[in-house]
Amino acid sequence: MKKIAVALLSAGLLVSVAAQAGPEDDRKQTIAYFKSKLPTIKFEDFVYGALALDDDSKSQYESIMEFPPFEGVVEAGKEMWEKPFKNGKTFASCFPNGGKNVAGNYPRFDVSLNKVVTFEADINQCLKANGEPEFKFSDVNTMGILTAYARTLSDGMKMNVKVEGPGALAAYEAGKTFYYQRRGQLNFSCATCHMDNAGNRIRAEVLSPALGQATHWPVFRAGERLTTLQARYKGCNSQVRAVPFEQGSEEYNNLEYFMSYKDNGLPLKASVFRK
Ligand code: HEC
Repeated sequence: MKKIAVALLSAGLLVSVAAQAGPEDDRKQTIAYFKSKLPTIKFEDFVYGALALDDDSKSQYESIMEFPPFEGVVEAGKEMWEKPFKNGKTFASCFPNGGKNVAGNYPRFDVSLNKVVTFEADINQCLKANGEPEFKFSDVNTMGILTAYARTLSDGMKMNVKVEGPGALAAYEAGKTFYYQRRGQLNFSCATCHMDNAGNRIRAEVLSPALGQATHWPVFRAGERLTTLQARYKGCNSQVRAVPFEQGSEEYNNLEYFMSYKDNGLPLKASVFRK
């Protein structure tokens, strides 16, 4: 009798410990996984994605980043960020610290709304609160250009996403489920390419590791095509011939939440070159 009680008690303890471990445990496991799979890449260098996997690509990145051909776009984003609304206020008034060193706190879970809020969603909230029309999440010429500057205000900040409370945990778990779900005609999950096959080639491209993928958005593909993180999710969904979701959808917001948490501790750097 006593033995059974002890066994039940320890089983119960194990369950509660496992439930508590959750996101932090996942993050540590991801780091350990890549440390053994790609042992030559230093932790901080995972922010370079596929470019970290060969020296030529990395030096191409470095020379392009010295004089980025997309500097004018980032400059246009700065003008948008600083241009006063009709009421005289600016975007900076909506964020702590005038928007400096905040992007690494995103996505955040909003308990009163009971959902994940991205940096882009808070930009729209700012427009709404100031009586301005909101941007479409997919509109490169408004949301894209604005965030190409606004996110650079957090360059160097370490990712610091929080998952606290049952609602947040449920959203994180939904993002995780999405990440490991096989889909499309190819029946691939995100993890098939960016965990299992990270570092391998698919057609002409080297597959980046999942770790570090949330740290550097938007990117300029081929040095010119502004691409946001969730536009990239759409692209990756389409690659396996799955139906993509909308940018700003609950599915992608939860996915971004899951993926960003695992990058905690890595430094942000927005508006970078990608192939
Ligand atoms: C068929 C393989 C494949 C699948 C499945 C796939 N991707 Fe990708 N993904 C790619 C390729 C190829 C690239 C471009 C090369 C690179 O950076 O990895 C890419 C790039 C990315 C990037 C940009 C990395 C960077 O630093 O620029 C992100 C983020 C990303 N994928 C996320 C996802 C997510 C999330 C999923 C699941 C919804 C997913 N991918 C599914 C092939 C895939």
